[in-house]
Amino acid sequence: MRSTVITGIGELTTNDPGFGTVTDAAVVLEGERVAWIGPATSAPVADTAVDAGGRAALPGWVDSHTHLVFAGDRTAEFEARMAGAPYLAGGIAVTVEATREAADGQLAANLERLLTEAARQGTTCVETKTGYGLTVADEARSAKIAAAVADEVTFLGAHLVPKEYTAESYVDLVCGPMLDAVAPYARWADVFCERGAFDEDQSHRVLLAAAERGLGLRVHGNQLGEGPGVRLAVRHGAASVDHCTYLSSADIEALAGSGTVATLLPACDLSTKQPLPPARELIDAGATVALATNANPGSSYTTSMAFCVATAVLQMGMSVSEAVWAATAGGARALRRDTETVAGPAVGVLTVGARADLHVLDAPSITHLAYRPGVPLTWAVWRKGSAVVV
Ligand code: NIG
Repeated sequence: MRSTVITGIGELTTNDPGFGTVTDAAVVLEGERVAWIGPATSAPVADTAVDAGGRAALPGWVDSHTHLVFAGDRTAEFEARMAGAPYLAGGIAVTVEATREAADGQLAANLERLLTEAARQGTTCVETKTGYGLTVADEARSAKIAAAVADEVTFLGAHLVPKEYTAESYVDLVCGPMLDAVAPYARWADVFCERGAFDEDQSHRVLLAAAERGLGLRVHGNQLGEGPGVRLAVRHGAASVDHCTYLSSADIEALAGSGTVATLLPACDLSTKQPLPPARELIDAGATVALATNANPGSSYTTSMAFCVATAVLQMGMSVSEAVWAATAGGARALRRDTETVAGPAVGVLTVGARADLHVLDAPSITHLAYRPGVPLTWAVWRKGSAVVV
């Protein structure tokens, strides 16, 4: 197995409570795992050596919420929104039409392009969803294309009711033949529980059917207004409820008393002119918070986790450490990848045995992620022990 030692790490954020933040550190990557962490002065030799020159290093970003299997572009909708038009769930239908028309190769190439773009910015673990096919065949091929390259795949047939169905008949399709066709490629199922998408009863049916098929659950909830999404997610023991832009104090309390991660998507809130989510209240109440990009062509066309971290610090009252944790270990928790599972070694953490996903910044500390917003600070990235950027 090939090994790489990275020495001269001025500040190493491990997310391992036993290690915390280590100064003057070195890390050894061997095969796909972290093999050693310790003081740079006692680093063992390896096949390849890289001197980080005093720079800061952290686990690769874990982007736990994206929608990357799509075709087409919604620049005109974005321009209209910036001129005052509201964001509506119905915009999804524009991407559905383009996605249905696209060949498999086109969808796969677009997905690869966005995964590469993300990796070059330090993202080493990505969840992505179906949800722009909305027929049995288009959802199944979306899931298959995603499963070939993404770390985690989520079935989001319940994204929007396509115009050729009533809501009830579409939920029947999602819970029956569509779920059967997609389940072999997905570990998760999700539902967009929101006005204009799926109501509480319909969402409940989708979650029940998915759980019966053995899929883990996630929910899009409380994005465009207060609603039943968070409640439903907690009741079903979902791994995460994503968006959480509009939360009542009962929602915050419910999240704090649950194992459901509140995944916040600030780039989406900015791009859709919504308020930013109440991160401080969630953390202070004891909820687990993750940050993710929600990369998609409609509501959040960015793969930049650094942008989400900077926004969380500059505008949402999170400390730099909280934001970096939420974008690494928090995302891993939302995907239930924070410990070793059948899906592979732990991600979002640098500890011996964890996946060898390392991000070195061209900066002396993680504080620069917020102190120098918008500046591309990625200096080197290893994913599963292989250099993506050095
Ligand atoms: O998470 N909320 C639902 N789905 C996406 C939006 C997708 C779109 O507008 O195309 C989201 O924001």
